[in-house]
Amino acid sequence: MTRVGFVSIVGAGPGDPDLWTVRAARRIAEADIVYYDALIDGLALTQRTTARCFRVGKRAGEKGVCQDTVNQLLVRTARRGKQVVRLKGGDPFMFGRGAEEAISLVAAGVPFEVIPGVSSALAAPALAGIPVTHRGTASGVLIVSGHHPSVMESILDGVRPNRLTVIVLMGMHHRLEVVELLLARGWKATTLTAIIAAAGCEEQVVWTGPLEKLATIETSELPGVIVIGDVVGVRDMVTAVAVETEHMEIQHGR
Ligand SMILES: C[S@@+](CC[C@H](N)C(=O)[O-])C[C@H]1O[C@@H](n2cnc3c(N)ncnc32)[C@H](O)[C@@H]1O
Repeated sequence: MTRVGFVSIVGAGPGDPDLWTVRAARRIAEADIVYYDALIDGLALTQRTTARCFRVGKRAGEKGVCQDTVNQLLVRTARRGKQVVRLKGGDPFMFGRGAEEAISLVAAGVPFEVIPGVSSALAAPALAGIPVTHRGTASGVLIVSGHHPSVMESILDGVRPNRLTVIVLMGMHHRLEVVELLLARGWKATTLTAIIAAAGCEEQVVWTGPLEKLATIETSELPGVIVIGDVVGVRDMVTAVAVETEHMEIQHGR
């Protein structure tokens, strides 16, 4: 009789394995095979498990394993009786295609679970000392993908300017469009903004400055979360660390 394995779709948090949940760490340690995304630190992973680990994700612009192939890998490996971990950055269901994998496992009759992770949408600001809500400053948060700025248009149409915190993932290459969309909808050019790149990793970098300058900052290819809203100003009170440069306040490291 075929022994059916099990798939755990696991969120790895923003980068540092210290931010894995206890359950995530346990599943990773006990797995036979881990299929992990591009933003996961492969070395840190292999130091924490005896499982065979395969990188299947891709960074923007990279050629990588396509989603259908990943779905099939999960099904086939589980059908060989293996304990499979599908390790994804942040939370698996936050712009992570985790639900597509779950749906394909359901269709194939493979048992699985979902283990939530700390999404970079919330972890990156927090690691930079920025609360996404703050009493008297912002009582709402909008998390959007900046991958296709045109999709953001209709979302932003329904939002009153400067009334909540906007968090943009996958928007580093589209900052100019994001700024233009917001200014065209009445957001103040002086609205505070931040970019948190490689949050939770050794290379973590934080930039803060006004909305009108958001697109002028030179950034590396590190993944980044953009925060737009007055909550960015709370950071000074939370961290009490500020280094002035010509245009922007920059803090290197954690
Ligand atoms: C495909 S989305 C996946 C998001 C992920 N599921 C999550 O919940 O964080 C990838 C985007 O997440 C953001 N991101 C992921 N990890 C990050 C990190 N360590 N630091 C900053 N941004 C990160 C970036 O905006 C990146 O372009």
